[in-house]
Amino acid sequence: MKRYALSTLLAMIASASLASSLVARTEGAISSRERISINDEWRFMKYASAEQADRLIYDVRPEVTDGEDGKAADAKPTAAVEVEAKEPVLKDWILPTANDFIKNPSDRHQRPEGNPGSDFPFVQEDFDDSTWERVTLPHDWAIEGPFMEGWDAPVGGGMGRLPSPGVAWYRRALDIPEADQARSIFLDIDGAMSYAMVWCNGHLVGGWPYGYASWRVDLSPYLNFGGANQIAIRVDNPPFSSRWYPGGGLYRNVWLTKTPKVHVAQWGTYVTTPEVSEKAATVSLEVTVDNDGDSAASVVVSTDIFRADENGKAKGRKIASLKALEGELEAGASATFADSVVIKNPKLWGPYPNQEPHLHVAVTKVRAADGSVDTYETTFGIRDLRFDGEKGLFVNGERIYLQGANQHHDLGALGAAFNVRAAERQLEILREMGCNAIRIAHNPPAVELLELTDRMGFLVIDEIFDCWARKKTPLDFHLIFPEWHEPDLRAFIRRDRNYPSVIMWSIGNEVGEQYTEEAGSALAQRLHDMAKEEDPTRPTAASFNFAKPHMPITAVMDTVSLNYQGEGIRNAPAYAHLKGINTPPLYPKFHDAYPNKMIISSENAAAVSSRGEYLFPVADGISAPVADGAGGDPVSAHVSSYELYTAPFGSSADKVLGSLERHPYVGGGFIWSGWDYLGEPTPYYSARSSYFGVIDLAGFKKDRFYLYQAHWRPDYPMAHILPHWNWEGREGEVTPVHVFTSGDEAELFLNGKSLGRKVKGEFEYRLRWDELAYEPGILEVVAYKEGKQWARAAVETTGAASALELKADRAKIKADGKDLSFVTVRILDDAGRFVRNAKTPLTFELDGPGEIVATDNGDPTSLVSFKSLEREAFNGLCLVIVKGKPGEAGDLTLRVSGNGVASAMASIVTTK
Ligand code: GAL
Repeated sequence: MKRYALSTLLAMIASASLASSLVARTEGAISSRERISINDEWRFMKYASAEQADRLIYDVRPEVTDGEDGKAADAKPTAAVEVEAKEPVLKDWILPTANDFIKNPSDRHQRPEGNPGSDFPFVQEDFDDSTWERVTLPHDWAIEGPFMEGWDAPVGGGMGRLPSPGVAWYRRALDIPEADQARSIFLDIDGAMSYAMVWCNGHLVGGWPYGYASWRVDLSPYLNFGGANQIAIRVDNPPFSSRWYPGGGLYRNVWLTKTPKVHVAQWGTYVTTPEVSEKAATVSLEVTVDNDGDSAASVVVSTDIFRADENGKAKGRKIASLKALEGELEAGASATFADSVVIKNPKLWGPYPNQEPHLHVAVTKVRAADGSVDTYETTFGIRDLRFDGEKGLFVNGERIYLQGANQHHDLGALGAAFNVRAAERQLEILREMGCNAIRIAHNPPAVELLELTDRMGFLVIDEIFDCWARKKTPLDFHLIFPEWHEPDLRAFIRRDRNYPSVIMWSIGNEVGEQYTEEAGSALAQRLHDMAKEEDPTRPTAASFNFAKPHMPITAVMDTVSLNYQGEGIRNAPAYAHLKGINTPPLYPKFHDAYPNKMIISSENAAAVSSRGEYLFPVADGISAPVADGAGGDPVSAHVSSYELYTAPFGSSADKVLGSLERHPYVGGGFIWSGWDYLGEPTPYYSARSSYFGVIDLAGFKKDRFYLYQAHWRPDYPMAHILPHWNWEGREGEVTPVHVFTSGDEAELFLNGKSLGRKVKGEFEYRLRWDELAYEPGILEVVAYKEGKQWARAAVETTGAASALELKADRAKIKADGKDLSFVTVRILDDAGRFVRNAKTPLTFELDGPGEIVATDNGDPTSLVSFKSLEREAFNGLCLVIVKGKPGEAGDLTLRVSGNGVASAMASIVTTK
């Protein structure tokens, strides 16, 4: 018999009672839900080349024979290439992850026997990853570059010249307490680029190939409760897989979600507001409950509704309750509970500026007979949407004209790694222009973006695919379309259908199925039907740049979404010589064919420019395709900011706005694009980022910004002059001056001398003095509205760069390692005037508990790493992005110095 010393025995008794009291206390905890951020403490390793990578592959891929960079965006998509796997692939173990999003039970996947990869070192618990890089998520492995130069670079301009392709691993340890055995433990990945596969303690758990999808795997069967656990995630980003920069890795948030065994399913609530008036609104709620336990459970599902505060959290007293619903769930079964309630005098969610985006929270409790309670919150809005073939969109009875912009997922110098503040800044600057809607091009966004649009009162077209079964690039989503379109589409809608800002589901952008007649329309119908099953309340869209009203695919969707076709493609005289899709302005034909469907211009313009670059001569019409020597300079790879030049299939802002105004039944449109984005640098693929944005990659406004602002905010007094007026050497040469104003006429003065007053004609969006000869001095414009002085603007010939002005968008930020201050550096002359064409080289330093996250200047041709602490100003401006060290509040001092300019400082305070 073992003998214990009395002291040991006493200690054992004490710890036993402690343990039992712990059990009692954790029982409270285990019976509830927790969502734990696990963004920290990851280890990361990327293979130096794809050839060196392991062969734990999802599937084989076809050989790339046409990885052409810079293919016209509207090139016809082509059929998939069949390949047969001659080596083991892991796909069959990954597919079952999709099962909850596959409707027909016979289409669901069975997990095969076996555990591939189990003997691979990286998935082992005892693998030593101490030499791997430490990373914090969201992490984009490619954004730091280096940029790849040259025509034969493995990643060309189309995908942003950054090393996003490749195979990499992430590993993280997880401590899971013993008590969690009573719960379900999920790994929730908001986005992994791409073909992610997850191992837990050496077991292949599942994964999800589409890099923009959010998804979950159930870790519960593989966890070591009461001890250490090891997660290993393999990510494999194919080359030639995107028409833009996709980013790489675990680039969104990752969570550990712990729930009672009886719990609300993933995205398991669905709120709709079938009847809405100022006096009363009906709120309907469906709750799907899963029983992951191994015995049947009786449950009671109840929900209270609260108003939400600015963070989407319940505030104040409950304003309504749904009936408590009872049910019995077999082990492993799911059931849906539904009820509705009328709310009197509801606070409605509506778009800015005339309405307010009020939000509510439904707090659902699922109580099981074993005492567990799963509490699940759903933020939602009460609002009524109506789509009209003649008048467009109505929100809560108010006609809302869509003043929209297309937005890609990247955040410029921050890459794909999602950051709430950076996304919020994008929306703020768009709003300043008068933009009230965004179309998410062309993939599911980070959910936090939809939280922002909900909170800020933007309207959203939520879009999922850029291609279906036919491909645009050799290794794009078409490879997985057959097996994944259903789970991807259903998961996307279930995730996003409670956001009131989302008004429409776009199930495809310019897909190749536009060209395949009945077969294409049958596929469109299948996707449309699925979308309607998941959410019958919102209309579907698919954006057509080729399909015409008589083609069957255009009849399938609830709305008519046209890319470029409304204004006509390559059909104006300046475009007549170009090859490619050619259509007359098609709004009238679509309206005749589908009089009851709302028409929108889901993409328009595709105008191009480099901020602050002006090239001569200037086109005399209102829209012209950019070409070398005609708006484009092949040597500098810059495009003129006279804002008249477009991609071959595009139309200038002037032409687009005129066309929309001439067709008032069109519900509005979305500019291609709001912000510049990484990749797709039409027309110069030696560059890294696009020229399409109205706002450049760094967030600086191009001249076009003011053209839209003038039109979209007619009551906001403003005037804007282009170009800059530093044209040494152009004295006496014709240097056209254009003015954008929300006024209706304007008078231009050069050195005090009037150059005449001009009136904006109908369907005109700029005033032009095209014959003006350059003479240094001051150019001033006085704008009038209804005969009264309305706004003024001036540009001046300046001296050389001699000073710097630093302005932080926020001088106080949170010391959490996430919040950001965006500091703009402006180059001034010795009289304090903004030197609009300065290209001064600058260096940056930061003192204090923080770091410079990235720098940029908005120059699409710059191949200087975004991490660099040295960078030239681009046409007078530079951007420095600063963050604080998590948990260490303090004072940050950013010091900027440069050649021939006095250095300057900016202070930023970080707070806990
Ligand atoms: C469109 C396409 C967009 C973008 C744009 C500009 O055809 O839908 O994704 O490529 O052209 O090139």
